Amino acid sequence: MSKGTFYITTPIYYPSGNMTIGHTYTTVAADTMTRFKKLTGYETYFLTGTDEHGQKIEKKAAETGVTPIQYVDRIVAETKDLWKLMNIGYDDFIRTTEDRHVKIVQKIFRQFYEQGDIYKAEYEGMYCTPCESFWTPTQLAEKDGVKVCPDCGRPCQPMKEESYFFRMSKYQDWMIDYIEQHPDFIQPASRANEMINNFLKPGLQDLCVSRTSVKWGVPVDFDPAHTVYVWIDALSNYITALGYGTDHDELYRKFWPADVHLVGKEIVRFHTIYWPIMLHALGLPLPRQVFGHGWLLFGADRMSKSKGNVVYPGPIVARYGVDALRYYLMREMPFGADGNYTNESFLTRTNADLANDLGNLVSRTVAMIEKYFGGVLPAWDEAGYVAEEDDALREHCAALPGLVEAQMDKLQFSQALTEIWKVIGECNKYIDLTQPWVLGKDPEKQARLANVLLNLAECVRFAAVLIGPFMPNTPDRIYAQLGVTDDSLKTWDSLSSFGRLPAGLTVRKGEALFPRIDVKKELEILAADTAPAAPEKKAEAPKEKKDNAKKHEEPEFPEVIAFDDFAKCKMQVARVLTCEKVEKSTKLLRFRLSFGADGERTILSGIAKYYDPAALVGKQVVAVTNLAPRKIAGEESQGMILSALDNAGNLRLMSVMEGVEDGAIIG
Ligand code: MSP
Repeated sequence: MSKGTFYITTPIYYPSGNMTIGHTYTTVAADTMTRFKKLTGYETYFLTGTDEHGQKIEKKAAETGVTPIQYVDRIVAETKDLWKLMNIGYDDFIRTTEDRHVKIVQKIFRQFYEQGDIYKAEYEGMYCTPCESFWTPTQLAEKDGVKVCPDCGRPCQPMKEESYFFRMSKYQDWMIDYIEQHPDFIQPASRANEMINNFLKPGLQDLCVSRTSVKWGVPVDFDPAHTVYVWIDALSNYITALGYGTDHDELYRKFWPADVHLVGKEIVRFHTIYWPIMLHALGLPLPRQVFGHGWLLFGADRMSKSKGNVVYPGPIVARYGVDALRYYLMREMPFGADGNYTNESFLTRTNADLANDLGNLVSRTVAMIEKYFGGVLPAWDEAGYVAEEDDALREHCAALPGLVEAQMDKLQFSQALTEIWKVIGECNKYIDLTQPWVLGKDPEKQARLANVLLNLAECVRFAAVLIGPFMPNTPDRIYAQLGVTDDSLKTWDSLSSFGRLPAGLTVRKGEALFPRIDVKKELEILAADTAPAAPEKKAEAPKEKKDNAKKHEEPEFPEVIAFDDFAKCKMQVARVLTCEKVEKSTKLLRFRLSFGADGERTILSGIAKYYDPAALVGKQVVAVTNLAPRKIAGEESQGMILSALDNAGNLRLMSVMEGVEDGAIIG
């Protein structure tokens, strides 16, 4: 029986160019969440689509010599191909040019006008004639004292245009109250404070909702000189796709309000202020949650088509498979925080987590069952049970579904995977502890050997079920190796107790799930295929000697700096997760640091002469975290760990007194 409904959406993307790894990030997250909810018994609905109107598309089409609809048709077809490649199982793909959408947008616009939420007035702003765009004072750029268009850099002129406006100001107090009374509505919570303090409290401006200069849009049916401008058109997709406002609104009645809108942080404002106000004005319930996730950055920059520093998923998937990329996207950075995409971090993580941890566990388990039991899963034998060795693993694994669900309910994909990988890690340790190869030599230890391998095989089954939402192709490959054909052993319910794998299954060693990657070689291949060279070139590779104690010996500081300059430097407390020598260097240590809710990063520091790396694991240090990442000895360092020289000339790490949380800001 269904546990209820679950409706999730992605933003509808602008089809002005092909979708990047950034758009893929949100879409994979929505797909993973949908699959997880489906696995746990919900009736799910997953909507994505494209936001096809506006000047930019009009212009792109003209440049390419096709009509706007021909232009977007091509990009939409490619987008759908990409989602297929990424194994995205959406239920509907809405296009704002579809009749089903256009008609209802017109109806909604008319209703707003008739009930007095929309009024007509003059829009006054700076206008770029070649781009046919209005810009607000904050959007304008400046060149030699002249206000210029942020897109093309040409001068803008003051201009007036007749427009319709939505009376947002009328709903400001209601909106503040709503957000304050519904702490889960905007996630992460810090974004709610930002909305209240930066946009609502200073006073909400009425929103311009029509244009006469943009032809490629939904016409206002009672005033055809106007087209509906951007947000009313775009945001309505979440209900028009469900048939809201039509005679066939079964989906709307079943799935609205949405459980969660996933959006990048730059459009949280539209989804948590304008959209709720529109819905409230229509007398409709609000979505339960809007989750504003962080950006995938490329170096210090946001990946964007206009900056030309875009990574596309195609070549990565072609070489390493879709599951490796999906895993990386969901694992690398906490959902909510920004993170850096680098080919190196992708390859390193694929090797460490997928080839080593997961891949080795599966292949070792299956190989040992083949070797010691002729490939047939033995029966459970009480005589082979050793409580002190087995209980911790069995109990941990039995608790795993609950631990994963708790993280998924908070959309903490990375944490959910971390929980699964803790059990995988524990299994690998359990193999070292129980030493099946020693048991295998002793005929009297057969029962023990059988139970060890059964425990491992069952943990592998748990892992296979739980990674399914993240990596949809991998579970079947694992089931094939374990000989699991019975579908009831692949369900969430089958994880309600440990030890369900039946004796007699025939295991079969298959190909390595994730073959080990030669990182150096693949980096060269990928560099040509994916990451554009420009931003990497900018990041100067400093000589190692610049990065050691020398700079502490010769400080060149100005007498005084402005407080604002100091405030630009973000320093945070971090905990050392791992610390090791950098092979190519005698001076550098490579730190993997945890910043609590702000995620993890790798920082290199020139202190190898002064510390034993193993002794630093678990310690708290202080790091500058908003320095542009840079390459040191061929590796990327994502910040700087602070240290000072002692009287004997040794570098000493800075730390904090007890009770300070990882990720705490210094200042
Ligand atoms: N059309 C609007 C959204 C309207 S929703 C009613 C739009 N489109 S967009 O094509 O610019 O897509 C923006 C979304 O794509 C972001 O909100 C985010 O979900 C995703 N991303 C695109 N690039 C991204 C990164 N580099 N990193 C993370 N997400 C990114 O805005």
